[in-house]
Amino acid sequence: MPVERARPADHTGEVVAAAIIVDGRLLLAQRTRPPELAGQWELPGGKAEAGETADDALRRELREELGVEVSGGDRIGEDVPLPDGRVLRAYRVELVSGTPVALDHAELRWVDGRELGEIDLVGNDRGWVPDLRLHLKGW
Ligand code: CDP
Repeated sequence: MPVERARPADHTGEVVAAAIIVDGRLLLAQRTRPPELAGQWELPGGKAEAGETADDALRRELREELGVEVSGGDRIGEDVPLPDGRVLRAYRVELVSGTPVALDHAELRWVDGRELGEIDLVGNDRGWVPDLRLHLKGW
């Protein structure tokens, strides 16, 4: 009989984050977990699953987290290496249908360039602010 082993966690691969910008405002989502990140704001997204492209992962994550359909787009900002070996990447995506709802977050907010600089963003996303602001109004 083969011995059953716990599968090692996949600590490689990509975490995708979506920059949804409508009328010069960026959609941010407020995290509920883990406790040290709860209350902070992020670009919505999550871990790509095995075999998924970044586009696939963006479409699935935003369907799950916001209840919207999106089309994948261009990279924005730099890669962010995560402590677990994954890499976090932001993509500009377009809303195809639906209105975002916080299905997995505490709250959603549309921010302009000034508000983006003032809100409590998760540390990993802060480096993207200058690139994001180029597409936002009000700064
Ligand atoms: O939803 P899923 O469990 O796949 O992923 P997640 O827990 O939302 O994100 C995976 C990792 O990426 C976590 O360490 C998040 O803190 C990080 N992340 C981030 O730093 N910035 C984002 N905009 C999205 C995720």
